[in-house]
Amino acid sequence: MGKSDLIVGLDIGTTKICAVVGEMTDEGMVEIVGIGGSISTGLRKGVVVNIEQTVQSVRKALEDAELMAGCEIHAVYVGIAGSHIMSMNSHGVIAVKGGEVDQSDIERALDAARAVPIATDREVIHTLPQEFVVDEQRGIIDPLGMVGVRLEVAVHIVTAAISSAQNIIRTCQKAGLEVADISLEALASAKAVLTSEEREIGVALVDIGGGTTDIAVFVNGAIKHTCVLPLGGQNLTNDIAFGLRTSVKAAENIKLKYGCALADMVEVDETIEVISVGGREPSRLSRRMLADICEPRMEEILYLVDQSLIRAGFKEMLGAGVVLTGGTALIEGCQELAEQIFNVPTRIGYPRNVGGLKDVVNSPKFATAVGLLRYGAEKEMGGQSGGSSKAVSSKDSNMFHDVIARMKRWFSEVS
Ligand SMILES: Nc1ncnc2c1ncn2[C@@H]1O[C@H](COP(=O)(O)OP(=O)(O)OP(=O)(O)O)[C@@H](O)[C@H]1O
Ligand SMILES: [Mg+2]
Repeated sequence: MGKSDLIVGLDIGTTKICAVVGEMTDEGMVEIVGIGGSISTGLRKGVVVNIEQTVQSVRKALEDAELMAGCEIHAVYVGIAGSHIMSMNSHGVIAVKGGEVDQSDIERALDAARAVPIATDREVIHTLPQEFVVDEQRGIIDPLGMVGVRLEVAVHIVTAAISSAQNIIRTCQKAGLEVADISLEALASAKAVLTSEEREIGVALVDIGGGTTDIAVFVNGAIKHTCVLPLGGQNLTNDIAFGLRTSVKAAENIKLKYGCALADMVEVDETIEVISVGGREPSRLSRRMLADICEPRMEEILYLVDQSLIRAGFKEMLGAGVVLTGGTALIEGCQELAEQIFNVPTRIGYPRNVGGLKDVVNSPKFATAVGLLRYGAEKEMGGQSGGSSKAVSSKDSNMFHDVIARMKRWFSEVS
């Protein structure tokens, strides 16, 4: 990188690849100084399936971002998603040595919490502390220096298929990039759009992208539940192409221009022009009919999100409701339909708390890229991540780097 304090978030999404370059200010803010994007063709449902195509798209996005920021990019914070992602809550208990909690006690407690059986083809990508309990005292964020004999920690563990993570790393390496760290995309989006009040009161972040819908639930400031569903805006586009007997490209354009997730919001007599396949004359059709195609698919996606929240046991804890983000959240009527299905207050989340060229990224589809940038900034400042204390996150980040180093090693063994 041209300047040492530049950080890059790279979102390798199913429909687009986006690199956001930010500069850290002395006040700890992140100012956006460059952004580059390209169309993504090498992914299916959040997972890299064609490395060469993805490398080309990554290079293109990087070149644009480098040009805009006037720098050379060597390392990136990258996201991971896909239905191979699994998560669970776990906890560990240890006896405190010496009557006062020190760093090694915290690390032992985290190790105990991490000691869960994980399949050999999976790897832990996040161990996020939710709360510590010292003797009977609950809700402690940083137990360092506290007096007690028993230390307990509750954590949220996220695991991914090793092969999917390796393909992301390989893509970046082939594009000439080092992976500084990998973050679950839902956590990155949450960092970009949620307020700390929402996390305290209880909120579900729902990122509806092109190929996947990612969920992250926060209660009392801590991450409680994460989940990736293999559905998104591309399903909607395919439904429209099928329903209107038109090409996928034409269906995508129709969706972006006229799509509506709630049929009741469309006037009955409103019509739109549709380009037919096979060189036939364009035809006019009722916009209500288009909404009738979109609504059931959006309903299905939001219903599955609702079921995931109910099954995980957090639906009743969402005092701050649901925040929708990702490109598909932009479809007209999305918020209204979501409110009907979730029956809790719902808003659309735009990236916040960034300066500089923030207008360029002022869309829900940039939530993940901006969040990865903020994730990188926090890591480099040695700050907090996922509600963990500083002491804890440094251990977490060590573990992270171990994971990445190990993945790279396995990777070089197989290549
Ligand atoms: N105004 C809009 N109305 C309807 N859909 C939209 C609109 N703008 C973008 N989309 C849809 O949003 C999707 C892209 O969203 P996003 O950029 O968040 O996805 P992605 O990050 O590429 O994919 P994923 O996160 O699933 O891997 C596309 O399916 C696109 O059609
Ligand atoms: Mg995305």
